[in-house]
Amino acid sequence: MRTIYAFLLGIIMVFAIGCEKEKKVSNQLETNIEELLSKMTLEEKIGQLNLRGTSSRAKTLSEELKQKVREGKVGALLNVMNKEYVDELQRIAVEESPNKIPLIFSRDVIHGFKTIFPIPLGMAASWDEEVVKNSSRVAAIEASSYGIRWTFAPMLDIAKDARWGRIAESPGEDPYLASQLARAYVEGFQGDSLSDPTSLIACAKHFIGYGAAIGGRDYNTAIISKEQLHNTYLPPFESAFKAGAQTVMTSFNEVNGIPASGDKELLTNILRKQLKFDGFVVSDWNSVTEMIAHGYAEDEKQAAEKAINAGLNMEMTSKSYEDNAKELLKENKLSMNQIDNMVRDILRVKFRMGLFKTPYRNKNKDVEIYSSKHLELAKEAAIKSSVLLKNKNNVLPLNKKAKVLIVGPLANKPREQLGTWTFDGDKKYTITPVASFEKNNANFEFIEGLTYSRDTNKKYFKEVLSKASKADIVLFIGGEEAILSGEAHSRANINLPGAQEKLIGELAKIKKPVGVTIMAGRPITLQNIKNKVDAILMTWHPGTMGGDAIYDILFGVKEPKGRLPVTWPKVAGQLPLYYNHKNTGRPASPKEYVHIDSIPIGAWQSSLGNTSHYLDAGYEPEYPFGFGLGYTSFEYSNFKLSTTSLTEDNTIIASIDITNIGERTGEELVQLYIQDVAGNITRPVKELIGYKRISLKSKEKQKVTFEITVDDLKYYNNQLKYGVEKGKFNIWIGANSASKVKEEFVYE
Ligand code: BGC
Repeated sequence: MRTIYAFLLGIIMVFAIGCEKEKKVSNQLETNIEELLSKMTLEEKIGQLNLRGTSSRAKTLSEELKQKVREGKVGALLNVMNKEYVDELQRIAVEESPNKIPLIFSRDVIHGFKTIFPIPLGMAASWDEEVVKNSSRVAAIEASSYGIRWTFAPMLDIAKDARWGRIAESPGEDPYLASQLARAYVEGFQGDSLSDPTSLIACAKHFIGYGAAIGGRDYNTAIISKEQLHNTYLPPFESAFKAGAQTVMTSFNEVNGIPASGDKELLTNILRKQLKFDGFVVSDWNSVTEMIAHGYAEDEKQAAEKAINAGLNMEMTSKSYEDNAKELLKENKLSMNQIDNMVRDILRVKFRMGLFKTPYRNKNKDVEIYSSKHLELAKEAAIKSSVLLKNKNNVLPLNKKAKVLIVGPLANKPREQLGTWTFDGDKKYTITPVASFEKNNANFEFIEGLTYSRDTNKKYFKEVLSKASKADIVLFIGGEEAILSGEAHSRANINLPGAQEKLIGELAKIKKPVGVTIMAGRPITLQNIKNKVDAILMTWHPGTMGGDAIYDILFGVKEPKGRLPVTWPKVAGQLPLYYNHKNTGRPASPKEYVHIDSIPIGAWQSSLGNTSHYLDAGYEPEYPFGFGLGYTSFEYSNFKLSTTSLTEDNTIIASIDITNIGERTGEELVQLYIQDVAGNITRPVKELIGYKRISLKSKEKQKVTFEITVDDLKYYNNQLKYGVEKGKFNIWIGANSASKVKEEFVYE
């Protein structure tokens, strides 16, 4: 007994010493901040609030910028991509500026710096935190060698509308999955210590509701109820802050009438008080002065006043703080205490980053850009994010001897397969599918057919078809060029652009198997081609190593491991579309569905079918959230709950047996969903609360278990009360969100 006490006492003491140390560090930090702040002039304080940009292609370093840094009028810089300029500007800041406060250099390092990983929506399709963490670590190592210590990532906007161009950068539609990935991104970017020279401070963006742009049109208004805000849009941010994200970026859009950059409730009450964020807030590009166009500020001065009063620390690119803060102070529209607090937040992060001790970029370490390790991780990520949507008669994997005709505008486009936000990726390192087939001596011929994804010229069709008739299988590799998704690149139609569908249709007539690989920044509607082809593989924009990943998948060296992080629509008219929707009072059902063509001519006005569906497109997606095939099949059996009654004090163990009934070893992503049957407010028809990846040999069986606690059931109601009510719950385990393997339990 005594030894147990001694042991426990030991643990308590170690813990107490740890806490004491932490306290000391944070006291010291605050003392340093106060000391510095007391020496700063008002101009310098306002200077810290400015994020200034240069062009990444700048050929000279402007004297004006140098002078601003010398006078301490800049807090951070954006897009300085010449290493010598970075060194010189930092030297001026720490040697010549009044209080020698170092600068932070920033950049959009979104899915890789030089070594490009799949676009974030693709990374989300991996459902793999380790892969995501590795990708952001690689990006941080490469980017920090250029002096960049702050990335404007991860983008955590929940996105339910594939028309929105920035869905490419998002973690998809699900708050649970997005929250797991948010943590992984932050851990990868920031590394083990913020003061490590390879650490990039993360920026959770865009706060908030940018993905809820009405109609999927970029920058558009968002209307989000309190309940949705707290249950759907905030959780990924909360997760990023818990993981230690040091900065957050406000979004361009307004939410419920207030542009995010001027929203005090959002930036002070929710962000600081509720989510306990203790880093600094940066605006998006000119988003402070864009509040004038929004109709929320009359001029730049008022825009600055509203943003500062809302709690926005640092202004990106526009100059309303620089030009107006002093006058606003004079007019008592702002207080000195407010300015000091804003500066404190920024200095705190600079101290944490170790910039006062090590301001310069990581020059000594041999950072291998495009190292074989980085390329290998990028290839693994591309394999894990590729989603096999269709594989009729197991046409994939291909036989190595098969004579393949590769066709399509993206089969050999090194720049396009990198996707959006890839300023720094050098296309000469890209492995395209054609390059990989060549390298592997595959038995293939290649003809593009269409020279870019929007190409409508059919002049090569005849030649393509003649070659196709001599092949054993045709592989069409198309989709969207990189520029068709990302910021400001929303589309109203989201099918394959140009004459791609026509070419696929012609190829299908030759009666040879046709496989389609899609590289795109969003789900693509497939109604015009789906039934004509044998296989469909979605690789998103797969990055530098996309070609090798695709080769390995097509020939079965690896199986595709991705699962959809978004519900895949049949037609754009179904958007926004998401699995975790509400049921309505008239849920759609197969029994009551009336198709447009079965309505009698001259039919009398009636609410035909009486359920929530489209006459022409029905109510089901093309593919459900969580869907993806591998090269083997799994059988789910024996679903059991350890108890059907959950309380505050117990947990439920949900278990299921999974058997690989195919011929190959394969991986399955086992997903767990619940439904709160009736609540104080209505609840979604299903919500993801867990997932596990398992690997099974042919005929192997494994029991998979999940532990469910009361915390998994909690949500915010419209009074923002967080909790769970007593009552019935449904629970499903399955390979995707459409699983019918269901049980029930009661929370009492
Ligand atoms: C984007 C941000 C980005 C910023 C800086 C803006 O246009 O919305 O996501 O970080 O530019 O490049």
